[in-house]
Amino acid sequence: MSVNLRGRSVLTLDDFSPTELRFLLRLGADLKTAKRAGNEVQKLRGRAIALIFEKDSTRTRSGFEVAAYDQGAHVTYMGPGGSHIGHKESVKDTARVLGRMYDAIEFRGFAQTDVEQLARHAGVPVYNGLTDEAHPTQVLADFMTMREFSGKHLSDMKLVFLGDGHNNMARSLAIGAAKIGMRMTIAAPRSLWPDEEFRRHVCELATAQGGRIDFDEDPKNAVAGADFLYTDVWLSMGEDQSLWRQRIDLLMPYQINSALMAATGNPYTKFMHCLPAFHNTETTVGQEIAKNFGVTAMEVSDEVFESAASIVFDQAENRLHSIKAILVATLA
Ligand code: CP
Ligand code: NVA
Repeated sequence: MSVNLRGRSVLTLDDFSPTELRFLLRLGADLKTAKRAGNEVQKLRGRAIALIFEKDSTRTRSGFEVAAYDQGAHVTYMGPGGSHIGHKESVKDTARVLGRMYDAIEFRGFAQTDVEQLARHAGVPVYNGLTDEAHPTQVLADFMTMREFSGKHLSDMKLVFLGDGHNNMARSLAIGAAKIGMRMTIAAPRSLWPDEEFRRHVCELATAQGGRIDFDEDPKNAVAGADFLYTDVWLSMGEDQSLWRQRIDLLMPYQINSALMAATGNPYTKFMHCLPAFHNTETTVGQEIAKNFGVTAMEVSDEVFESAASIVFDQAENRLHSIKAILVATLA
């Protein structure tokens, strides 16, 4: 089946068919091979891409910038407070301005409705570089990485996400897993599960693709037989800092540590995290958490983070190749 994604925005993985997702994963792998072999072909020469970040970023920003440079395109970075968007000029007006100058726009912000509005009015492809609701480009990198580290087809793998089960990562992974027909479990306290409508949606999607999404409060039960354990920060960007105490109390049983890795019963289970991660006290936030709450690691122990099972930096590298796949597929 031929796939044509030219001119398409990437707002949520919900907008993509299983065939389109597999196409992007394959293209990302091909582009990675080409870059490594030194024979990458530039298909975006002369293009200009606007990068709007209302929240901080290391990987997503670098991924878009280097992907664009590798392909011959130029970028303009507009960081938090670096443009009028949302303060002095509406999202709709900003979209119509940038759409006249740029060939595409990446947006990282808060409301999903903002990225949707940009896409509605810009007239050029818009890429969601993370909102409170979704982080679709991360999931492509993650699935690319899972393929590299397992001999199984994606649809035969079991992925378990532990922690804040209703955040952008948990939700985007669940949509992606459902589309690919994977087995995925979200292990979290019930109060941090996605709402019922979302749960029904991903369960139906998964069933249609021969996969299955489960929600489980018991971390040990959830991880049995898992190929990949995945976690993310317990408090996402933009959430109220006063929630730390509650989240730490609720989520400590879901910390990925050596005991939980062993509970998979699978000696080959890999550890995944979109990063940044709180696995030690080498950050100012990590130090404050240690001082205020007496914990030196949160969602993952330092031992697991630094272990041979950890593939987090492969995920990080694959942000570049998978973002490049999106740019090439939608702009070339
Ligand atoms: N994983 C991820 O999106 O990282 P950044 O916040 O550094 O972009
Ligand atoms: N859930 C995290 C993901 C960071 C890449 C956040 O939104 O802060």
